[in-house]
Amino acid sequence: MHINVSAKLIKARTDEGRVIEMIDRLGPAGSIEIRPISAGQIQALLSLWKDAGLPCRPTGRDRIEHIAREMEEEPRLWLGAWEGERLVGAVFASDDGRKGWINRLAVHPEYRSQGLARVLVERAEEVLRRRGREVLAVLIEDDNPTSMDVFTHLGYVREEHIIYYTKRDRPEA
Ligand SMILES: CC(C)(COP(=O)(O)OP(=O)(O)OC[C@H]1O[C@@H](n2cnc3c(N)ncnc32)[C@H](O)[C@@H]1OP(=O)(O)O)[C@@H](O)C(=O)NCCC(=O)NCCS
Repeated sequence: MHINVSAKLIKARTDEGRVIEMIDRLGPAGSIEIRPISAGQIQALLSLWKDAGLPCRPTGRDRIEHIAREMEEEPRLWLGAWEGERLVGAVFASDDGRKGWINRLAVHPEYRSQGLARVLVERAEEVLRRRGREVLAVLIEDDNPTSMDVFTHLGYVREEHIIYYTKRDRPEA
């Protein structure tokens, strides 16, 4: 197994030649692997969002069928931090053709302040940059100072002159 250590992220190649990314948390027995979340694992994702306190729209855009379709179309954009089979962190990158977006970043409360969000965001940024996106963006609710601190720390700059408007076909969409 070839191992290449950089900051908190370890890139490793399995015996079968698959490249995996892990965070060295507790040594090999407790390491966390970054890998895509598949459609069969959406229930774990919804539980993580709930445990992390992220608002969810189960009858709107967070409908299981809707997420499953998005995952099937762009599997590399949905990244999970896995401790074994347990999903402990997640992020969803999206690409609107002009900007790359970081969405739904969540880390389970027991796993916070260990650099997991940083690794997930940096991994999502890598995917978006590879697609040619030079502007990366995130929307943060105005009552979430932790997230604002984290993204500021990760190099994001708050835009003071932009206000978000939406037009919804249904209130719960
Ligand atoms: C926001 C959240 C994802 C952060 O996860 P985390 O794994 O604890 O964050 P990390 O440990 O990777 O911290 C990332 C960086 O931000 C820094 N940071 C700055 N302020 C911080 C704060 N108030 N809390 C945590 N980290 C902070 C950390 O020091 C770290 O930098 P470093 O790697 O240079 O040390 C997590 O608190 C969460 O899931 N919150 C609920 C869901 C949510 O609000 N998501 C964001 C939606 S926009």
